[in-house]
Amino acid sequence: MLLRSRTASQARESEVTPRNLVLSRRTALAGAAAAFAVGGIPSMSGAAGLSFQTTVRPRDEKADPIAPMKSATTYNNFYEFGTDKADPSRNARALRTRPWQVAVDGEVVKPATFGIEDLLALPLEERIYRLRCVEAWSMVIPWVGFPLAEILKRVEPTGSARYVAFQTLHDPQQMPGQRGPVLQWPYVEGLRLDEARHPLTILAVGMYGEVLPNQNGAPIRLVVPWKYGFKSIKSIVRITLTRDQPPTAWNRSQPNEYGFYANVNPEVDHPRWSQATERRVGDFFRRKTLPFNGYADEVAGLYAGMDLGKYF
Ligand code: MTE
Repeated sequence: MLLRSRTASQARESEVTPRNLVLSRRTALAGAAAAFAVGGIPSMSGAAGLSFQTTVRPRDEKADPIAPMKSATTYNNFYEFGTDKADPSRNARALRTRPWQVAVDGEVVKPATFGIEDLLALPLEERIYRLRCVEAWSMVIPWVGFPLAEILKRVEPTGSARYVAFQTLHDPQQMPGQRGPVLQWPYVEGLRLDEARHPLTILAVGMYGEVLPNQNGAPIRLVVPWKYGFKSIKSIVRITLTRDQPPTAWNRSQPNEYGFYANVNPEVDHPRWSQATERRVGDFFRRKTLPFNGYADEVAGLYAGMDLGKYF
Protein backbone atom coordinates (compact mmCIF):
# COMPACT_ATOMS: atom_id res chain seq x y z
CA MET A 1 0.00 0.00 0.00
CA LEU A 2 0.92 3.56 -0.22
CA LEU A 3 2.32 6.16 2.02
CA ARG A 4 2.41 9.76 0.87
CA SER A 5 6.17 9.64 0.70
CA ARG A 6 6.22 6.54 -1.50
CA THR A 7 5.60 6.03 -5.16
CA ALA A 8 4.53 2.54 -6.00
CA SER A 9 2.14 0.60 -8.06
CA GLN A 10 0.26 -2.45 -7.07
CA ALA A 11 -2.96 -4.27 -7.83
CA ARG A 12 -5.14 -7.35 -7.75
CA GLU A 13 -7.47 -8.93 -10.27
CA SER A 14 -9.69 -11.84 -10.94
CA GLU A 15 -11.92 -13.71 -13.33
CA VAL A 16 -14.09 -16.72 -12.96
CA THR A 17 -15.29 -19.91 -14.58
CA PRO A 18 -16.82 -22.72 -12.53
CA ARG A 19 -15.35 -26.21 -12.60
CA ASN A 20 -16.85 -29.02 -10.56
CA LEU A 21 -13.92 -31.06 -9.52
CA VAL A 22 -13.54 -32.44 -6.08
CA LEU A 23 -9.89 -33.14 -5.70
CA SER A 24 -8.20 -35.41 -3.26
CA ARG A 25 -5.12 -34.08 -1.54
CA ARG A 26 -2.95 -35.73 -4.16
CA THR A 27 -4.87 -34.41 -7.15
CA ALA A 28 -5.10 -31.04 -5.48
CA LEU A 29 -1.35 -30.94 -5.40
CA ALA A 30 -1.14 -32.15 -8.97
CA GLY A 31 -3.58 -29.40 -9.95
CA ALA A 32 -1.51 -26.87 -8.13
CA ALA A 33 1.58 -28.17 -9.86
CA ALA A 34 -0.17 -27.74 -13.22
CA ALA A 35 -1.10 -24.22 -12.24
CA PHE A 36 2.51 -23.67 -11.37
CA ALA A 37 3.50 -24.87 -14.82
CA VAL A 38 1.37 -22.08 -16.28
CA GLY A 39 3.24 -19.47 -14.34
CA GLY A 40 6.55 -21.25 -13.92
CA ILE A 41 6.46 -22.12 -10.22
CA PRO A 42 9.29 -23.43 -8.07
CA SER A 43 9.34 -26.69 -6.15
CA MET A 44 6.77 -27.46 -3.47
CA SER A 45 9.01 -29.56 -1.28
CA GLY A 46 8.39 -29.27 2.43
CA ALA A 47 5.07 -27.50 1.98
CA ALA A 48 1.84 -28.75 3.52
CA GLY A 49 -0.79 -29.49 0.90
CA LEU A 50 -4.48 -28.73 1.31
CA SER A 51 -7.49 -30.62 0.00
CA PHE A 52 -9.80 -28.42 -2.01
CA GLN A 53 -12.46 -28.25 -4.63
CA THR A 54 -11.62 -26.21 -7.73
CA THR A 55 -14.49 -23.91 -8.50
CA VAL A 56 -13.15 -20.72 -10.03
CA ARG A 57 -10.62 -20.26 -12.80
CA PRO A 58 -9.59 -17.43 -15.12
CA ARG A 59 -11.84 -17.06 -18.14
CA ASP A 60 -8.85 -16.63 -20.38
CA GLU A 61 -5.83 -18.38 -19.03
CA LYS A 62 -3.62 -17.23 -21.87
CA ALA A 63 -4.28 -13.59 -21.18
CA ASP A 64 -4.28 -14.26 -17.48
CA PRO A 65 -1.50 -16.67 -16.55
CA ILE A 66 -1.12 -17.51 -12.89
CA ALA A 67 1.67 -15.53 -11.24
CA PRO A 68 4.81 -17.42 -10.34
CA MET A 69 4.50 -18.43 -6.70
CA LYS A 70 7.79 -16.68 -6.07
CA SER A 71 6.31 -13.32 -7.12
CA ALA A 72 3.20 -13.84 -4.99
CA THR A 73 5.32 -14.68 -1.94
CA THR A 74 8.15 -12.17 -2.24
CA TYR A 75 6.36 -9.03 -3.50
CA ASN A 76 3.97 -8.29 -0.66
CA ASN A 77 2.23 -5.62 1.33
CA PHE A 78 2.09 -6.51 5.02
CA TYR A 79 3.12 -3.40 6.91
CA GLU A 80 3.29 -5.25 10.21
CA PHE A 81 6.52 -6.69 8.79
CA GLY A 82 7.91 -3.63 7.01
CA THR A 83 6.97 -1.26 4.22
CA ASP A 84 9.24 -2.62 1.49
CA LYS A 85 7.72 -5.25 -0.84
CA ALA A 86 10.50 -7.67 0.11
CA ASP A 87 10.18 -7.15 3.89
CA PRO A 88 7.24 -9.51 4.64
CA SER A 89 8.92 -12.57 3.09
CA ARG A 90 12.03 -11.83 5.15
CA ASN A 91 10.43 -10.79 8.43
CA ALA A 92 7.19 -12.78 8.73
CA ARG A 93 8.91 -16.13 9.14
CA ALA A 94 8.80 -15.98 12.92
CA LEU A 95 5.05 -15.30 13.12
CA ARG A 96 3.46 -18.06 15.21
CA THR A 97 0.27 -19.20 13.50
CA ARG A 98 -0.55 -22.02 15.96
CA PRO A 99 -2.47 -21.95 18.17
CA TRP A 100 -4.73 -19.42 16.43
CA GLN A 101 -8.30 -18.41 17.04
CA VAL A 102 -10.76 -16.18 15.26
CA ALA A 103 -13.46 -14.61 17.46
CA VAL A 104 -16.73 -13.72 15.72
CA ASP A 105 -18.93 -11.40 17.76
CA GLY A 106 -21.01 -8.21 17.79
CA GLU A 107 -24.48 -8.17 16.26
CA VAL A 108 -24.89 -11.95 16.18
CA VAL A 109 -27.19 -14.40 17.93
CA LYS A 110 -24.46 -16.99 18.47
CA PRO A 111 -21.02 -15.42 19.01
CA ALA A 112 -18.29 -18.02 18.56
CA THR A 113 -14.55 -18.50 18.61
CA PHE A 114 -13.20 -20.75 15.89
CA GLY A 115 -9.89 -22.55 16.21
CA ILE A 116 -7.85 -22.51 13.02
CA GLU A 117 -8.01 -26.32 12.86
CA ASP A 118 -11.84 -26.13 12.73
CA LEU A 119 -11.66 -23.61 9.91
CA LEU A 120 -9.19 -25.75 7.96
CA ALA A 121 -11.62 -28.66 8.28
CA LEU A 122 -14.35 -26.78 6.35
CA PRO A 123 -14.84 -27.74 2.68
CA LEU A 124 -12.17 -25.75 0.85
CA GLU A 125 -12.24 -24.47 -2.72
CA GLU A 126 -9.59 -23.14 -5.05
CA ARG A 127 -10.36 -19.66 -6.39
CA ILE A 128 -8.14 -18.28 -9.10
CA TYR A 129 -8.60 -14.55 -8.60
CA ARG A 130 -6.83 -11.56 -10.01
CA LEU A 131 -5.60 -9.35 -7.20
CA ARG A 132 -5.36 -5.69 -8.13
CA CYS A 133 -3.54 -3.49 -5.74
CA VAL A 134 -4.40 0.19 -5.42
CA GLU A 135 -0.78 0.85 -6.40
CA ALA A 136 -1.78 -0.24 -9.95
CA TRP A 137 -0.10 -3.62 -10.15
CA SER A 138 -1.87 -6.95 -10.36
CA MET A 139 -1.28 -10.70 -10.08
CA VAL A 140 -3.35 -13.82 -10.70
CA ILE A 141 -3.24 -16.06 -7.63
CA PRO A 142 -4.80 -19.48 -6.92
CA TRP A 143 -6.21 -19.06 -3.41
CA VAL A 144 -7.59 -21.89 -1.30
CA GLY A 145 -10.36 -21.02 1.13
CA PHE A 146 -14.07 -20.95 1.84
CA PRO A 147 -16.83 -18.36 1.49
CA LEU A 148 -16.94 -15.90 4.39
CA ALA A 149 -20.74 -16.44 4.25
CA GLU A 150 -20.17 -19.91 5.77
CA ILE A 151 -18.93 -18.40 9.02
CA LEU A 152 -21.52 -15.63 9.05
CA LYS A 153 -24.28 -18.22 8.70
CA ARG A 154 -23.05 -20.07 11.76
CA VAL A 155 -23.10 -17.05 14.07
CA GLU A 156 -26.52 -15.85 12.83
CA PRO A 157 -26.30 -12.06 12.29
CA THR A 158 -29.08 -10.15 14.07
CA GLY A 159 -31.48 -7.90 12.15
CA SER A 160 -29.35 -4.91 13.20
CA ALA A 161 -26.14 -6.16 11.60
CA ARG A 162 -25.23 -4.06 8.53
CA TYR A 163 -21.43 -4.23 8.37
CA VAL A 164 -18.61 -6.66 9.13
CA ALA A 165 -15.40 -5.43 10.77
CA PHE A 166 -12.12 -7.36 10.65
CA GLN A 167 -9.03 -7.09 12.82
CA THR A 168 -5.46 -8.35 12.37
CA LEU A 169 -3.40 -9.74 15.25
CA HIS A 170 -1.85 -7.02 17.41
CA ASP A 171 1.47 -8.26 18.76
CA PRO A 172 4.37 -5.82 18.37
CA GLN A 173 6.75 -8.47 19.68
CA GLN A 174 6.05 -10.68 16.69
CA MET A 175 5.16 -7.90 14.27
CA PRO A 176 8.01 -5.37 14.30
CA GLY A 177 6.16 -2.92 12.07
CA GLN A 178 3.62 -2.40 14.87
CA ARG A 179 6.34 -0.80 17.00
CA GLY A 180 6.25 2.24 14.73
CA PRO A 181 3.46 4.66 13.79
CA VAL A 182 3.24 3.88 10.07
CA LEU A 183 -0.45 2.95 10.55
CA GLN A 184 -2.73 2.93 13.57
CA TRP A 185 -2.52 -0.66 14.85
CA PRO A 186 -4.06 -3.16 14.69
CA TYR A 187 -4.83 -3.10 10.96
CA VAL A 188 -8.60 -3.09 10.55
CA GLU A 189 -10.93 -3.46 7.57
CA GLY A 190 -14.63 -3.61 6.89
CA LEU A 191 -17.29 -4.66 4.41
CA ARG A 192 -20.98 -4.04 4.09
CA LEU A 193 -22.86 -7.19 5.15
CA ASP A 194 -24.09 -7.89 1.60
CA GLU A 195 -20.50 -7.63 0.30
CA ALA A 196 -19.33 -9.96 3.05
CA ARG A 197 -22.03 -12.49 2.19
CA HIS A 198 -21.32 -12.36 -1.56
CA PRO A 199 -20.18 -15.77 -2.85
CA LEU A 200 -16.99 -14.31 -4.35
CA THR A 201 -15.81 -13.13 -0.91
CA ILE A 202 -13.61 -15.76 0.71
CA LEU A 203 -11.46 -16.35 3.73
CA ALA A 204 -8.24 -17.85 2.36
CA VAL A 205 -6.20 -20.39 4.30
CA GLY A 206 -3.95 -21.42 1.42
CA MET A 207 -2.54 -20.55 -1.98
CA TYR A 208 -0.96 -22.61 -4.78
CA GLY A 209 -2.39 -25.72 -3.05
CA GLU A 210 -0.37 -25.11 0.10
CA VAL A 211 -1.11 -23.59 3.47
CA LEU A 212 -0.89 -19.81 3.36
CA PRO A 213 2.67 -18.48 3.73
CA ASN A 214 3.06 -16.07 6.66
CA GLN A 215 3.82 -13.11 4.38
CA ASN A 216 0.49 -13.63 2.60
CA GLY A 217 -1.54 -13.43 5.81
CA ALA A 218 -1.31 -16.80 7.56
CA PRO A 219 -3.15 -18.51 8.91
CA ILE A 220 -6.29 -16.82 7.55
CA ARG A 221 -6.93 -13.69 5.46
CA LEU A 222 -9.75 -12.11 3.55
CA VAL A 223 -9.88 -12.02 -0.28
CA VAL A 224 -12.42 -9.71 -1.95
CA PRO A 225 -11.53 -9.88 -5.64
CA TRP A 226 -13.47 -6.87 -6.95
CA LYS A 227 -11.86 -4.48 -4.47
CA TYR A 228 -8.38 -3.02 -4.22
CA GLY A 229 -5.98 -5.34 -2.41
CA PHE A 230 -5.88 -3.34 0.81
CA LYS A 231 -9.38 -4.61 1.67
CA SER A 232 -7.96 -8.14 1.85
CA ILE A 233 -6.85 -8.00 5.48
CA LYS A 234 -4.30 -10.54 6.69
CA SER A 235 -3.79 -12.69 9.81
CA ILE A 236 -7.32 -12.12 11.12
CA VAL A 237 -8.12 -12.67 14.82
CA ARG A 238 -11.53 -10.97 15.13
CA ILE A 239 -14.63 -10.51 12.96
CA THR A 240 -17.31 -8.24 14.42
CA LEU A 241 -20.78 -7.64 13.01
CA THR A 242 -21.78 -4.00 13.51
CA ARG A 243 -24.66 -1.59 12.97
CA ASP A 244 -22.41 1.27 11.83
CA GLN A 245 -19.73 1.47 9.15
CA PRO A 246 -16.47 0.41 10.85
CA PRO A 247 -13.15 2.28 10.51
CA THR A 248 -10.60 0.91 8.04
CA ALA A 249 -6.82 1.19 8.36
CA TRP A 250 -6.08 3.09 5.15
CA ASN A 251 -9.16 5.28 5.26
CA ARG A 252 -8.23 6.29 8.81
CA SER A 253 -4.68 7.08 7.66
CA GLN A 254 -5.47 9.00 4.42
CA PRO A 255 -9.23 9.45 4.02
CA ASN A 256 -9.03 11.52 0.82
CA GLU A 257 -7.00 8.75 -0.88
CA TYR A 258 -8.60 5.53 0.38
CA GLY A 259 -12.35 5.16 0.71
CA PHE A 260 -14.38 2.57 2.57
CA TYR A 261 -15.66 0.87 -0.58
CA ALA A 262 -12.39 0.67 -2.56
CA ASN A 263 -14.07 -1.01 -5.54
CA VAL A 264 -11.64 -1.33 -8.43
CA ASN A 265 -12.70 1.51 -10.72
CA PRO A 266 -10.68 2.67 -13.76
CA GLU A 267 -12.76 5.87 -13.87
CA VAL A 268 -11.95 7.08 -10.39
CA ASP A 269 -8.31 8.05 -10.13
CA HIS A 270 -6.33 7.96 -6.95
CA PRO A 271 -5.53 11.63 -6.13
CA ARG A 272 -1.87 10.98 -7.01
CA TRP A 273 -2.11 8.60 -9.99
CA SER A 274 -4.45 7.10 -12.57
CA GLN A 275 -6.31 3.86 -11.96
CA ALA A 276 -7.10 3.40 -15.69
CA THR A 277 -4.33 0.86 -16.28
CA GLU A 278 -2.27 -1.61 -14.32
CA ARG A 279 0.95 -3.57 -14.62
CA ARG A 280 0.69 -7.31 -14.22
CA VAL A 281 3.70 -8.22 -12.09
CA GLY A 282 6.26 -9.71 -14.49
CA ASP A 283 4.79 -7.98 -17.59
CA PHE A 284 6.38 -5.10 -19.44
CA PHE A 285 3.27 -3.58 -20.98
CA ARG A 286 0.43 -2.15 -18.95
CA ARG A 287 -3.14 -3.33 -19.46
CA LYS A 288 -6.50 -1.68 -18.99
CA THR A 289 -8.07 -1.95 -15.58
CA LEU A 290 -11.56 -3.44 -15.66
CA PRO A 291 -14.47 -2.08 -13.61
CA PHE A 292 -14.83 -4.13 -10.44
CA ASN A 293 -11.62 -5.86 -11.49
CA GLY A 294 -13.51 -7.86 -14.12
CA TYR A 295 -16.30 -8.99 -11.78
CA ALA A 296 -18.90 -6.40 -12.77
CA ASP A 297 -21.38 -9.07 -13.91
CA GLU A 298 -21.31 -10.61 -10.47
CA VAL A 299 -21.14 -7.58 -8.17
CA ALA A 300 -22.18 -4.33 -9.89
CA GLY A 301 -25.74 -4.91 -8.65
CA LEU A 302 -24.57 -4.44 -5.06
CA TYR A 303 -23.99 -0.76 -5.85
CA ALA A 304 -27.01 0.04 -8.00
CA GLY A 305 -27.92 3.72 -7.63
CA MET A 306 -24.75 4.65 -5.74
CA ASP A 307 -22.44 7.40 -6.95
CA LEU A 308 -19.18 5.46 -7.10
CA GLY A 309 -17.20 8.69 -7.49
CA LYS A 310 -18.46 9.75 -4.08
CA TYR A 311 -18.39 6.31 -2.48
CA PHE A 312 -14.90 5.37 -3.70
N1 MTE B 1 -3.31 -6.79 5.93
C1 MTE B 1 -2.58 -6.36 6.97
N2 MTE B 1 -2.85 -6.81 8.20
N3 MTE B 1 -1.55 -5.48 6.81
C2 MTE B 1 -1.24 -4.96 5.57
O1 MTE B 1 -0.30 -4.13 5.48
N4 MTE B 1 -1.78 -4.90 3.18
C3 MTE B 1 -2.90 -4.97 2.23
C4 MTE B 1 -3.58 -6.35 2.24
N5 MTE B 1 -3.77 -6.81 3.60
C5 MTE B 1 -2.01 -5.39 4.45
C6 MTE B 1 -3.04 -6.33 4.67
C7 MTE B 1 -2.53 -4.63 0.87
S1 MTE B 1 -2.19 -3.00 0.58
C8 MTE B 1 -2.50 -5.53 -0.15
S2 MTE B 1 -2.24 -5.06 -1.76
C9 MTE B 1 -2.66 -6.97 0.12
O2 MTE B 1 -2.78 -7.25 1.52
C10 MTE B 1 -1.46 -7.72 -0.43
O3 MTE B 1 -1.63 -9.10 -0.30
P1 MTE B 1 -0.46 -10.06 -0.81
O4 MTE B 1 0.82 -9.58 -0.20
O5 MTE B 1 -0.83 -11.42 -0.35
O6 MTE B 1 -0.43 -9.94 -2.30
